Amino acid sequence: MDNDRIVSNQEFPEDAQMESNYSLRPQLLNEYIGQEKIKHNLNIYIQAAKEREEALDHVLLFGPPGLGKTTLAMVIANELDVGIQTTSGPAIERSGDLLAILNELKAGDILFIDEIHRLPRVVEEVLYSAMEDYYVDIIIGQGQTSQPIHFELPPFTLIGATTRAGLLSQPLRDRFGIISHMQYYTHDEIQLIVHRSAEIFDVEIDSGASLEIARRSRGTPRIANRILRRVRDVAQYEGQSLITKDLADKALTMMDIDQSGLDETDRRLLTTMIELYQGGPVGLNTIAANINEDVTTVEDMYEPFLLQNGFLKRTLRGRIVTPLAYEHLGYPYPEENGKDA
Ligand code: ADE
Repeated sequence: MDNDRIVSNQEFPEDAQMESNYSLRPQLLNEYIGQEKIKHNLNIYIQAAKEREEALDHVLLFGPPGLGKTTLAMVIANELDVGIQTTSGPAIERSGDLLAILNELKAGDILFIDEIHRLPRVVEEVLYSAMEDYYVDIIIGQGQTSQPIHFELPPFTLIGATTRAGLLSQPLRDRFGIISHMQYYTHDEIQLIVHRSAEIFDVEIDSGASLEIARRSRGTPRIANRILRRVRDVAQYEGQSLITKDLADKALTMMDIDQSGLDETDRRLLTTMIELYQGGPVGLNTIAANINEDVTTVEDMYEPFLLQNGFLKRTLRGRIVTPLAYEHLGYPYPEENGKDA
């Protein structure tokens, strides 16, 4: 996957980059914009755990990429004033890897596991006792020299992040006391985030421009911030000290992000379904193969956005393209599709 893509499920270093010594990531709950219900609830649980001098209960954050799950985990650590170790499901290959990380934790610390649904099953099983009773039993070595070892752990908080809660096994899901479903941000919230980021970048932006970015960033702060960086480049190149709507529009058009926030891949996905499959129904694997994308990327990023915005519909027989998408892409809607849509 090329690295200059605006819509991507990967986090790039610049997404969290320090700018004039200020990270784009908020540090505290009251600096974190949006996800109001989650923040409200977390604040209560955090204060209560602090008062009891106990570790916060384990937290599961789920939602599409780019909505600030890692940021929120770091905010929780700051609010609790505890340390945080960060890793990801695919990075922990064996029980020993998990033990090495658990071994670093002090009482009350946070272990953040991104993409927790991708933990190998053997590692997941070791996690159960760690989460429930703060110990692990693992076998070290192989064959004749193998030995069981029992490790006591300090009380800690596991924060797991995943794109869809349904990807987690039931026993793992059951061990989280706090489950938070992150939502796409509203235009108002994205606008606030864009103004906050612009301040950190030390650039001037008017509300027409921030609204334009908000409308075209899929309710996703990571995408809005990436767009803002490119808009800032265009402003600088053109010698403009104020980012206006026209300038934002120009940069967005350069990035092939259209009026509805669809990028080149979204349009290719829909166009392929229309041209090769008469608008569907088509299975997700077929769509992904045709447009040469990972199935998980299509599932986590493209499909949820297209479904949420009424460009795609899910049926029992597969995905179908809606009349809205036909219209948006300038195709006539076939009469015979009417009965499906
Ligand atoms: N930057 C990225 N996401 C943010 C959020 N939710 N609040 C404030 N700043 C952000």
